[in-house]
Amino acid sequence: MDITFLLNGERVELRDINPLMTALDWLRDHRGLTATKEGCNEGDCGACTVMVTDERGARALNACILFLPQLHGKALRTVEGITAPDGSLHPVQQAMVDHHGSQCGFCTPGFIASMAAAHLNGDGDHETALAGNLCRCTGYAPILRAARAARSAPVPDHVKDDPDLISSDMSAGGGNQDDDGQPAPRQRWQPETADALAQVYAAHPDATLVAGATDVGLWVTKQLRQPDPVIFLNRCADLQQVEIDADKIRIGAGVTMDRVLTLMEAHHPSYAAMTRRYGSAQVRAAATIGGNIANGSPIGDNPPALIALGARLHLRHGDTRRDIALEDFFIDYGKQDRSKGEFVEAVTLPADAPVFRCYKISKRFDQDISALLGAFNIIPRDGTIASARIAFGGMAGVPKRATNAEQALAGQPWTLDSIRAAQAAMADDFTPLSDMRASAAYRLRVAQNLLERYFQDIAGTRTDLREVQP
Ligand SMILES: Cc1cc2nc3c(=O)[nH]c(=O)nc-3n(C[C@H](O)[C@H](O)[C@H](O)COP(=O)(O)OP(=O)(O)OC[C@H]3O[C@@H](n4cnc5c(N)ncnc54)[C@H](O)[C@@H]3O)c2cc1C
Ligand code: FES
Ligand code: FES
Repeated sequence: MDITFLLNGERVELRDINPLMTALDWLRDHRGLTATKEGCNEGDCGACTVMVTDERGARALNACILFLPQLHGKALRTVEGITAPDGSLHPVQQAMVDHHGSQCGFCTPGFIASMAAAHLNGDGDHETALAGNLCRCTGYAPILRAARAARSAPVPDHVKDDPDLISSDMSAGGGNQDDDGQPAPRQRWQPETADALAQVYAAHPDATLVAGATDVGLWVTKQLRQPDPVIFLNRCADLQQVEIDADKIRIGAGVTMDRVLTLMEAHHPSYAAMTRRYGSAQVRAAATIGGNIANGSPIGDNPPALIALGARLHLRHGDTRRDIALEDFFIDYGKQDRSKGEFVEAVTLPADAPVFRCYKISKRFDQDISALLGAFNIIPRDGTIASARIAFGGMAGVPKRATNAEQALAGQPWTLDSIRAAQAAMADDFTPLSDMRASAAYRLRVAQNLLERYFQDIAGTRTDLREVQP
């Protein structure tokens, strides 16, 4: 596969790459750009953070789980290229010096890349922007002070100019055809439309799809797997569409979680609050909603929320499309209703659900996988419960509805007594596991308590732990 992109402002053309080489390995081992560090090699620490710009703007991404083909047609800046060509420091670099934001310095290039991306985007929520960067020695106060101090400084031209440098000529690079007239490998394995994807995947149903690579990246870096062939979805523009009408939102499978967060702020604020805690800025900028559904994880954050909203999943095989209720997609642990060569095209959910709420429970506030996630959409009419949808992640081998609890609520008055009865019924819905995230007993107790939290939340009581005052 041949690719073309900008590295620190200069055009790079690579021929015949291993499509599963990470940007981090390439930068360090093949380019000698060793400022970008390898810490965890699984997207958790942010030491490898780089800045990537495309037509959607600039984002911080973890280079350790970013495959080279995902850079095609984009601009990559490492900390070496965040410094100006004449060697002068970027305002965030200068502020880190001035505010003593670095001790051993191992985390610093990653922090600088995250800070430079946030600075370019005018993002003043530094705690959120830096939640995916870990520092073991300096402590976060001086780093946050530096980020705040740099905020009003102008963006240096060399950083601002990247979008203009990504010419259409560059993004079409890599050759359209082989010498024998066949589509060149990049076109075949990195289709530009859902139609082209449908065709190549139907012809190669054993291929591995790669969307944001926040799961697949770890198969390569941690499990040392080399799936072959792989089909990259990141250039399928029509998979990245969001369509909103009066009562529905259709989200393409390739929409990244940072865009889901923005979308949900307008439509489902509780979903947005949960998404703010989904991984980190770097993970949300890469991970797609389609990947989070398709991987079938019992602890993925989107599925329970979408199930409680009554979402429908759109699947496609070649030219054949079908729609199913999202909960029916998850058959058993590791088993989904998806045939070989079939892919997730989109998911549709209601545009409005005023009593929908979801609550993510994890050991850390930021950058942590859920121990469980409860999502509730219980609609009262004239004082009694007209319909109830309750779904959990982390309570079974699949994201699952609490059907006994739902039945216990249906037709009952909207009172705490009804909630208590449903809490008892919930014990028949789930037999959760004990693992490193939580014990079975804790999971069940918390799931039951979340129903009461929902009742109080809808009644207007402050239930967010950060809001509760003694
Ligand atoms: C540091 C870190 C933090 C994380 N935090 C969270 C978190 O807080 N909450 C959470 O839920 N998850 C979290 N994850 C998990 C991960 O981000 C999600 O599962 C993610 O949404 C996967 O999406 P992706 O686009 O990266 O998928 P990929 O890794 O590209 O693919 C995942 C799987 O889905 C398949 N696939 C992808 N797209 C499609 C499609 N359109 N049709 C069919 N199959 C497809 C792939 O073949 C693969 O099997 C985290 C991961 C990391 C590394
Ligand atoms: S090395 Fe830790 S996130 Fe990449
Ligand atoms: S300065 Fe040492 S890890 Fe951050």
